[in-house]
Amino acid sequence: MRLVLVGPPGAGKGTQAQYIASNLSIPKISTGDIFRANVSGGTDLGKLAKTFMDRGDLVPDEVTIAMVRDRLSEDDAQDGFLLDGFPRNVAQAEILRDMLKDWGLALDLVLELVVDDDEVVRRLAGRRTCSQCGRIWHVEFDDKKDDKCDACGGALFQRDDDKEETVRHRLEVYQEQTAPLVSYYAGEDILVGVDATGPVEEVTQRAMEAIRPYLG
Ligand code: AP5
Ligand code: MG
Ligand code: ZN
Repeated sequence: MRLVLVGPPGAGKGTQAQYIASNLSIPKISTGDIFRANVSGGTDLGKLAKTFMDRGDLVPDEVTIAMVRDRLSEDDAQDGFLLDGFPRNVAQAEILRDMLKDWGLALDLVLELVVDDDEVVRRLAGRRTCSQCGRIWHVEFDDKKDDKCDACGGALFQRDDDKEETVRHRLEVYQEQTAPLVSYYAGEDILVGVDATGPVEEVTQRAMEAIRPYLG
């Protein structure tokens, strides 16, 4: 299964990606996570990406695409993958399509996680991420009273780009640059919308039901 998750910041792409990828036994490839790992590691890629991420802007396409090409070439991605946060504009989508075509492959399905702006702001304001295992939590919805990960005990942190002002800009960038992907993939006839409101497990169930008809 070759799957893409699309949706605004805070829609729950990362949250759902961890469950969907494990249900389907495919790797979850999140460009945001890979950039953040490079930022913490202090690599050249991380230094470059950070200037864009801190403003809530997209990292330039050439950089992002090269990074995804490398990741998709790894062994564990040969029998399928779930992309979270890529592609992020139509240019990236076209290059992904051509890249897969060169390898004799194509996407099976694009899931759009649908949720309104107010909910997105609530979700991002309370988001915490585990510095050790990467799991995503929410202070209110997961009733987090301490700053420790329930799964591994690691310390939780708040993302630099979750400040209210940056969140607002990320939403604008989504509307301008990423939302056009919805009609792009509808045109390719591989888009399915999933209601991403309600409890996490219910959203996962809806997503798995949407995926089922596409499983080989
Ligand atoms: P990225 O990391 O991809 O951020 P994003 O798209 O803004 O999405 P988020 O990670 O903020 O939201 P999410 O949908 O994953 O929500 P989550 O599951 O965490 O990108 C960051 C930056 O990297 C970009 O701004 C850009 O600079 C750069 N970048 C990345 N990819 C790029 C690309 N392809 N090209 C160029 N630049 C790129 O959930 C949010 C919160 O809600 C959590 O606290 C969670 O616990 C909670 N929650 C989730 N689901 C529910 C639910 N059902 N009910 C209640 N709470 C919920
Ligand atoms: Mg995410
Ligand atoms: Zn953890």
